[in-house]
Amino acid sequence: MLHFKTIIEPFRIKSVEAVKFTQRGERESALAEAGHNVFRLRAEDVLVDLLTDSGTGAMSAAQWGAIMQGDESYAGSRSFFRFRDVVQDLTGYRHIIPTHQGRAAERILFHSVLEEGDVVPNNNHFDTTRANVEVEDAEARDLVIPEGRVPALVHPFKGNVDLGRLEQALAKDGDRIPLVMVTVTNNSGGGQPVSLENLRGVRRLCDRYHKPFFLDACRFAENAYFIKLREPGQSGRTPKEIAQEMFALADGCTMSAKKDGLANIGGFLALNDDAWAERCRNLLILTEGFPTYGGLAGYDLEAVARGLEEVVEEPYLRYRIRSIEYLHERLVAAGVPVIQPAGGHAVYLDARALLAHIPPLQYPGIALANALYVEAGIRAVEIGSVMFGLQPDGTEKVPAMDLVRLAIPRRVYTQSHIDYVAEAVIGLAGMKDRLRGYRIAKAPATLRHFTAVFEPLAA
Ligand SMILES: Cc1ncc(COP(=O)(O)O)c(C=O)c1O
Repeated sequence: MLHFKTIIEPFRIKSVEAVKFTQRGERESALAEAGHNVFRLRAEDVLVDLLTDSGTGAMSAAQWGAIMQGDESYAGSRSFFRFRDVVQDLTGYRHIIPTHQGRAAERILFHSVLEEGDVVPNNNHFDTTRANVEVEDAEARDLVIPEGRVPALVHPFKGNVDLGRLEQALAKDGDRIPLVMVTVTNNSGGGQPVSLENLRGVRRLCDRYHKPFFLDACRFAENAYFIKLREPGQSGRTPKEIAQEMFALADGCTMSAKKDGLANIGGFLALNDDAWAERCRNLLILTEGFPTYGGLAGYDLEAVARGLEEVVEEPYLRYRIRSIEYLHERLVAAGVPVIQPAGGHAVYLDARALLAHIPPLQYPGIALANALYVEAGIRAVEIGSVMFGLQPDGTEKVPAMDLVRLAIPRRVYTQSHIDYVAEAVIGLAGMKDRLRGYRIAKAPATLRHFTAVFEPLAA
């Protein structure tokens, strides 16, 4: 019997989209026109787009088929009940509130339950989560384990919460903590998973201090598969069974269906508490829409429902996790500094380590992401001093890491695209001394990374 090492894409391609090849000079001009911020580029000028894995995945034939079944009734649509049943089967939560994407769920939850001066502990808040906490004049407090802050360290569950610090926070600031959150997988910390044991620990503390526990569940299926692979005693369970236990340990979740919903748009807020759900639904009606569509079309609800079923299938998750690991392995073998181990949805380059000659406040992550575009037409994103450095009082603080994330869209690129990416990053690492830092010429007060304009610093 043959034993294969190659894990092939568990799908055939039935519809394709052409990508545009550009010359280096064209990319230089496009980037300058975009204010040296890859978010401001035209997507068609990008060859391999690894800006985000959010909403950029390829839907299956079954999802496109389900789209044709969408019921566009304003209230009580059949598509809502299909969506609700799938989400309830997975999460077990009583109230399922659709939203147009993850941050809408965050805004509705936080605006409904936070008061000025409150504290929300999390392993690491994602940027929109942090911004939606801070806009309520509350504090977003990151309590990931110390290992989660050391890029080169290998640990199976680097997304785990530091339970000692969480307990201290609950003991000291408990009266200002309306809920505890945990992000699975931990995107800002490198797409690293959280163990079931750690989630059980958070549950115990929440019980002791009578606090509701919410998951930021965007990548719950990737997290569940890491648990299956890495946590003792879990290898015989299905990813869906593990995911169900993860949800059962919490009281609710916010979800962006643009990730592990395998859809191009969508999200939800799901929770058990009746009073909180009522408050959230009232706000939903004000800003998103009626509670049976929440800012989505009926066909979007169908696509998400089917996506949530497909995402926990084992052949899909095996391919997904392995293909990220494959890129990671190639970069490690070439000596490129990356966050260890590979994340669930992305490989994170350690720009601060690679470009040690560029100080953090000259934004090494921007320098690396911009060079990757100019040299190879690849779009990646800085996760570092630009994304997290700006403090609510307007000052800048250097965050723990300066990373460049290569996020891999789900079911979109083949192994040859990934081989090209590896070649580009390795080539760029070989010419790192030629890269220069940037200054910010213009930026808004919140979420500045999306729209800031940069200027390259002279050599
Ligand atoms: C961990 C995490 N939480 C929340 C969000 C926000 O989701 P959305 O982009 O759908 O608003 C994201 C998006 O990338 C995320 O990665």
